[in-house]
Amino acid sequence: MSEVIAIDGPAGSGKSTVARAVAERLGWTYLDTGAMYRALAIAARRRGFNIEDEVALGALSQSAKLELGERVLVDGDDVTDDLRLDRTNRDVSIVAANAEVRSSMVQRQRDYVATAPGGVVVEGRDITTVVFPDARLKIFLTASLEERARRRGEEDVESIARRDEADSTRTTSPLRKADDALFIDTTGRSVDLIVEEIVQCL
Ligand code: DC
Repeated sequence: MSEVIAIDGPAGSGKSTVARAVAERLGWTYLDTGAMYRALAIAARRRGFNIEDEVALGALSQSAKLELGERVLVDGDDVTDDLRLDRTNRDVSIVAANAEVRSSMVQRQRDYVATAPGGVVVEGRDITTVVFPDARLKIFLTASLEERARRRGEEDVESIARRDEADSTRTTSPLRKADDALFIDTTGRSVDLIVEEIVQCL
């Protein structure tokens, strides 16, 4: 099994920017697990599924071929341009609360790491608590709600607060800080400083 740095935190906490930068600094691979849930939500809409249909979504999560790279593809269909749409922001919380979807995504994330050529920086909501509880380094990133909304640009405070609430109160794998994860508040701090702090902990 490759080495893992696991990073969790709410929307806009800086996870993607920091995880990508840490991966680049170390020459490791970067895995954005939020993109996997987003890709499934888009594929479900494009196929005309009711996003609340747990059985259809569960089946899709098992059968779909997901390709994660510069572009994100589901069964060969490029969904990259829709990843950050408002509708995707709304749909993804419903998709991510589906237990069958989660178990299928968790398995895919573990398979991805098992076959990666070297270390992997994995970011999401349940990476430190469920997917890789034994990761070499576990980090919980956060920032003030105002700063997180500002970083998300078009997404407003209410929309982010709604997603925070859905992500941290759902029954299956809610977002929470693992007891032994390093807590980092990124409010007002540069990416370089945070990357340095993380790399120093290795
Ligand atoms: O990180 P993000 O904003 O792209 O995540 C999109 C959604 O997917 C978010 O509502 C939380 C959910 N998610 C999750 O439940 N588990 C993960 N490991 C990653 C994301």
